[in-house]
Amino acid sequence: MANQETQQLGLDSKNERQFTVNRRLHTGQKGHRWRHVANVILLVLFATGLVFYQLHGWRKATPRSSVHHLSQSPHQHQDAQEWKWNMIEPSRVLLWHSCYDGAYDCARLDLPMDWLKPSDDERVIIAIIRLRATETDDYRGPVIFNPGGPGESGVFALKDHGASLQTIIGRNHDVISFDPRGIGASLPRIECWNSPEQRQLWDLQDVGVIDAHPGTIYDVSFGVKWGVSRFFLTPTVLRHVGTASHARDMLEILHKLGQDKLKYWGFSYGTILGGVFASMYPDKVERLVSDGNVDLREWHYQTYINFPRDMDKVMSAFYDFCHQAGREACDFYAETPDLIRQRLENLLKKMRKHPVLVTTGEPISSDGPNIPQLITWSHVRRLTSAALYRPILLFKKYATVLAALESGDGRPFYHLNNNLYQSGDPAPSICLAEAIPPEVPRLETGNSEAFPAIMCSDLPPINNTVEEFIDFTQQLSEISESAGDVNALFRLACIGRTIRPKWRFDGPFEGNTSFPILYVNNIADNVAPLISATNNSQGFPGSVILVQNSYGHTSLSTPSTCTANYIHNYFQHGQLPQPGTTCDPDYYPFQDISPKGKSELATALDELTKANWGFTPNLNF
Ligand SMILES: *[C@@H]1O[C@H](CO)[C@@H](O)[C@H](O)[C@H]1NC(C)=O
Ligand SMILES: *[C@@H]1O[C@H](CO)[C@@H](O)[C@H](O)[C@H]1NC(C)=O
Ligand SMILES: *[C@@H]1O[C@H](CO)[C@@H](O)[C@H](O)[C@H]1NC(C)=O
Repeated sequence: MANQETQQLGLDSKNERQFTVNRRLHTGQKGHRWRHVANVILLVLFATGLVFYQLHGWRKATPRSSVHHLSQSPHQHQDAQEWKWNMIEPSRVLLWHSCYDGAYDCARLDLPMDWLKPSDDERVIIAIIRLRATETDDYRGPVIFNPGGPGESGVFALKDHGASLQTIIGRNHDVISFDPRGIGASLPRIECWNSPEQRQLWDLQDVGVIDAHPGTIYDVSFGVKWGVSRFFLTPTVLRHVGTASHARDMLEILHKLGQDKLKYWGFSYGTILGGVFASMYPDKVERLVSDGNVDLREWHYQTYINFPRDMDKVMSAFYDFCHQAGREACDFYAETPDLIRQRLENLLKKMRKHPVLVTTGEPISSDGPNIPQLITWSHVRRLTSAALYRPILLFKKYATVLAALESGDGRPFYHLNNNLYQSGDPAPSICLAEAIPPEVPRLETGNSEAFPAIMCSDLPPINNTVEEFIDFTQQLSEISESAGDVNALFRLACIGRTIRPKWRFDGPFEGNTSFPILYVNNIADNVAPLISATNNSQGFPGSVILVQNSYGHTSLSTPSTCTANYIHNYFQHGQLPQPGTTCDPDYYPFQDISPKGKSELATALDELTKANWGFTPNLNF
């Protein structure tokens, strides 16, 4: 029963867990800000607690004739809601079309599904979006970025925060992103469900964090296995997703742009895409920033165990900064950092036996369903894991939630869950969500099925027994007490998968790139430890690691003017920092982000810290 209510709240779900995984990879955060994007917004509430997917979908494919109509009719032209990806006829050359109110250019590129044996019959359509350079006197061409995941939408990310990234890179560059094959507006999309309702019903069966109760692992393993093996509506594309194909697509996009070499900024999983590209095509690298690094060898060789290595350091940062901030700024304050840790331990102990029920006769808030909600130990664990991605944005709120739960008040939890990105618009009910078939493009923050599909394609087949998986989970818990177990499930999603990729790149992960790679990593990244940047860097002569002296996932988690200047100079002038360079952040956790008197660059950094990075999990619980 608890489970049922949880799911109604959308507090946890298998998908979410998978996302959780993602986030760690990429910059992992997924946010839910309810933006009023076009007319139809599909919101799929992932049961996963805070993981809400925003699917801004198109109701239906629009007949081509309406394209002409639209483009000839100024008043309709202004109606951003009318623009649909389907209005663009896919082409084998890159043709830009003005889109999203004219703020961007969009293209649909028709590429071979099978790069090893290209044919006219099997194709993928890649959705590409561009924010044009505005300083054209010294135009420097395109920089492509990938927001992470795997499974995050580049289209969504560029619309959400491409302009801020461009402020860092320099406005003499176009900024371009794309939905990797299988995702969002690229077709065919990886899809398991015929409708959002089906997905939610599946998510309702979530059983919580793996060690919530004795034996939970068996329920989880059965459920995940069954889920991944049965429901794909688009099996063909599953044989052709994976980072090798994504990297090849990116090379093709580059060539279609008329460029010989890549300028790129990858976050989280985007560091895998960038690293694979650099390994496959080292002579095609002109600039490559690898930000929030996932270990390339671990990712591809089935030993994916080190990713939570710095997780507890980020957790300790919560105790330390809460203590430093004092009683006024941190609601979960105690006399010493260790007493804060104990206070959390006690709260979790209590919640194992006494979950907190949010009951009100009244609407809890105007932007959510008025349903009593049960907040369990699993929810708090997942919230903790999510908070570690974004200390600047979340630690203070997280402290408030914990203090309230201690006194039996679940409302702050509820509000944080629903208002992470504070955008105003009410969340549409799942009942309003529309089914969008896999052959129709849609705008989505990310694709929860794509995450395991891509990750498992990059790995060799996984065949573990449940008992072996329990060992793996224990290893993760030993590496990170704070959230290792919360992040165990993604790997389970690969067990029993029968569809294998036709093309898999398995190294070596090295190369003499035609320009040195710039690695950027937080000193403690909850899912992308500094050691991964070090390991990856060893394969690429001349590469330099810039360490940002902050906590959380990717450099976006914390504004640092210093880091931004290095990245700017790298793109603009090809300058690399001296090895051993460390950048301090502009803020520390529990400090309020203040908009006053800022330079454009500092404002852009603040915005990135608050942005919806897609996966980067918001609160994925
Ligand atoms: C990363 O480097 C560390 C330290 O050298 C090493 O122990 C570890 O095995 C490396 N990881 C991989 C996957 O190579
Ligand atoms: C997985 O297990 C099956 C049955 O035990 C076995 O036949 C198969 O070879 C295994 N595959 C791998 C990759 O170990
Ligand atoms: C890179 O170049 C050096 C020096 O020419 C060479 O020794 C090394 O093998 C090259 N590495 C790769 C991966 O090609």
